[in-house]
Amino acid sequence: MIRARIIATGSYAPEKVLTNFDLEKMVDTSDEWITERTGIKERRIADEKQAASDLAYVAAREALKGSGLKARDIELIIVATVTGDMSLPATACILQDRLEAKRAAAFDVNAACSGFIYGLSVANAFIKSGAYRRVLVVGAEVLTKFTDWEDRTTCVLFGDAAGAAILEAVNEDRGILCTKIHSDGSMWDLLHTPGGGSRYPASKETLRKKQHFIKMKGNETFKIAVRTLEGLVLETLDENKLKPADLALLVPHQANLRIIQATASRIGLPMDKVAVNLDRYGNTSAASIPFALDEAVRCGRVRDGDYILLEAFGGGLTWASALIRW
Ligand code: UT7
Repeated sequence: MIRARIIATGSYAPEKVLTNFDLEKMVDTSDEWITERTGIKERRIADEKQAASDLAYVAAREALKGSGLKARDIELIIVATVTGDMSLPATACILQDRLEAKRAAAFDVNAACSGFIYGLSVANAFIKSGAYRRVLVVGAEVLTKFTDWEDRTTCVLFGDAAGAAILEAVNEDRGILCTKIHSDGSMWDLLHTPGGGSRYPASKETLRKKQHFIKMKGNETFKIAVRTLEGLVLETLDENKLKPADLALLVPHQANLRIIQATASRIGLPMDKVAVNLDRYGNTSAASIPFALDEAVRCGRVRDGDYILLEAFGGGLTWASALIRW
């Protein structure tokens, strides 16, 4: 049976660090509040010149290097982002040009924090169908350029990063075993960036109303995320006749440590089997899972034959999981 296997990963985060103590000087907040409510201690901030494709490029180059492939071997590039370089063209096309991946088709996926798993799911379907053999999937976000630095309810949460994975068709009993993607558009307004699209085209008015910044009803989103993720993880494992104890590692979207801990505790998974790096990088939306996965791979936390589960919840609303036998 043909499966898609992740043969290499890569990641990148900008150098500039913004700590909770820095934020204390910018808005009415404290290191104590941010740490207790989110688990975040610091995050990375892109410089003025860095756009999503710049972060994506470094992560993708690293993944390519690890794979031993050349850019021209890649047949499809999917970039998951809600903070792309421009609304037109797709950031994936800009990345394709920079990589000189001349044979690749390229498009973006917008599924907010679930975007990387959505991208993985599309790549998996293309590979299993036989259409492509080698696909690059990247999650890249520069959320801090869409952050209202006067809004303490959001500005303490986000960071910038990119993570990449190269998938290859294999005829083996490992690779991506299953992906699940879900949406509920009735709650789109829990997490959105109203201005600059065709609903509220950019104008002096949209700027004055700060509509180009991310708005989030955090507490409502939090409660739905906790309820949803437990079901999602158990559903994914059940369908594959696995139990939480079979997992070597859970790689969750890094939105809030309390959400991650609640999910792990509800399914009875010890935290030493959960990848967490939001303390150092904050919530990087579509980049968070490939970034945390790459870190886990590089630290030797992932071994051949291990069962790994990726899971995410985010704007849309969207939620998604991917079960992998490494
Ligand atoms: O990434 C994809 C999806 N996103 C998520 O999953 C995020 C989900 N939400 C969360 O992570 C949490 O809801 C937050 C971290 C955003 C907020 O934590 P919370 O425990 O839900 O707090 P809250 O929104 O209920 O606010 C509690 C209090 C409020 O004050 P009052 O009304 O009780 O006086 C807020 O104004 O905390 C206040 N507050 C803050 N205080 C200090 C909100 N932000 C801050 C802040 N510093 N930065």
